[in-house]
Amino acid sequence: MKYLNNSFLIEHVKAEYLAKKFGTPIYCYSYKKLKMNIIKFKNNFKSFNPLVCFSVKSNTNVNLLREIRKLGCGADVVSIGELMKALKAGVNTKKIVFSGVGKTTKELNYAINKNILLINAESKSEIIEIEKIAKSKKKIVNIGIRLNPNTDAKTINKISTGKKEDKFGLTEKTFIELVKYTKNSKYINLKCLSIHIGSQILNNLSYEKMLKVIDKVVKKSNHKFEYVDLGGGIGIAYNNKTKKFNYKKYSISISKFLKNHNSKIIFEPGRSIIGDTGILISKVIYIKKTKSKDFIILDSGMNDLMRPALYGVNHRIIPVIKKGGSSKKTYEFVGPICESTDKFLTSKNFQKLKEKDLIIICDVGAYGMSLSSNYNVRPNPVEILIKESKINIVKKRQKLIDLI
Ligand SMILES: Cc1ncc(COP(=O)(O)O)c(C=O)c1O
Repeated sequence: MKYLNNSFLIEHVKAEYLAKKFGTPIYCYSYKKLKMNIIKFKNNFKSFNPLVCFSVKSNTNVNLLREIRKLGCGADVVSIGELMKALKAGVNTKKIVFSGVGKTTKELNYAINKNILLINAESKSEIIEIEKIAKSKKKIVNIGIRLNPNTDAKTINKISTGKKEDKFGLTEKTFIELVKYTKNSKYINLKCLSIHIGSQILNNLSYEKMLKVIDKVVKKSNHKFEYVDLGGGIGIAYNNKTKKFNYKKYSISISKFLKNHNSKIIFEPGRSIIGDTGILISKVIYIKKTKSKDFIILDSGMNDLMRPALYGVNHRIIPVIKKGGSSKKTYEFVGPICESTDKFLTSKNFQKLKEKDLIIICDVGAYGMSLSSNYNVRPNPVEILIKESKINIVKKRQKLIDLI
């Protein structure tokens, strides 16, 4: 994705062309970038050959999941719906892990029937429920237990999941009790310790602390874990100032951990695989000038891209057509939704815009479309994948009529 003669391209396709042909807003993804991200991710950890289970929650588009599967990934799912999508995309059941604190009996039943690799349980009640279902089916079910390591991921508070006050996982004490419990179960095979301390993590230290806790707990539990599922969470650079995550350091820390533990590593990356593969192309509907600032009112809103409203985070905004030399302005980019939180970014020094101009909201491949809603009865945008310069509609724009 780059500018050529001041026009933004996704692979070899002009963003301007897509907007003309399909209307706006558009989620558009680059296959080339997706493929590169997966190859790079695997390469970074090739010394211990992990199982990479793409975190479906970050992007649930079934056609993208199919491409991700073809590039060798499994799936990490958190609901029956995500599991069904992973299966529809052809993901091998032996490469699917099921996480989440609130799996219902129906969901567990479905997962057990499908013989997926692991159900990562997060409470004693859930383990008892799995055992009950397994017994009724006369099956032995492979599970993991999620540990809460009480480790600060040093990320946005709202996406931290590994501190003791978070609802996720189990304390060291309960974890060890449950390891003992499962040893006596005829219907449960405890194969995995799972963990996920948060998302958009850029600090290696958090992972190092997490690995130390796992090392201690595994030794204490005196159990041979076939798998250690380290979850996802690796962050990406949403702006040029962000320090990039140090993969090499993380890989070295894991290799050190593996010297003492003969387990297969599982990763559940979402954002690091798909985050920077997607953009949201949007049109300026109106420009509203006030004394203190100019509002750029876009045709995409917080229902299309919720991250800024939900977490107070920024996504870069760039013009579809760069205009050299024009005077710069301070703009507040907002959506049309009737909420004051429907605001994307305040940008100083943006090139002068006029109504009907096109802009791009960057790095929206993860938790973009998957968090979208129909709030204000607004149909979901079309999703397009550019693959080898071919324009593939991977999900049609929702029809207004279907919402009425
Ligand atoms: C259990 C679990 N695994 C994996 C992920 C994916 O995280 P990320 O997209 O940050 O890699 C999440 C997201 O929060 C998660 O909850």
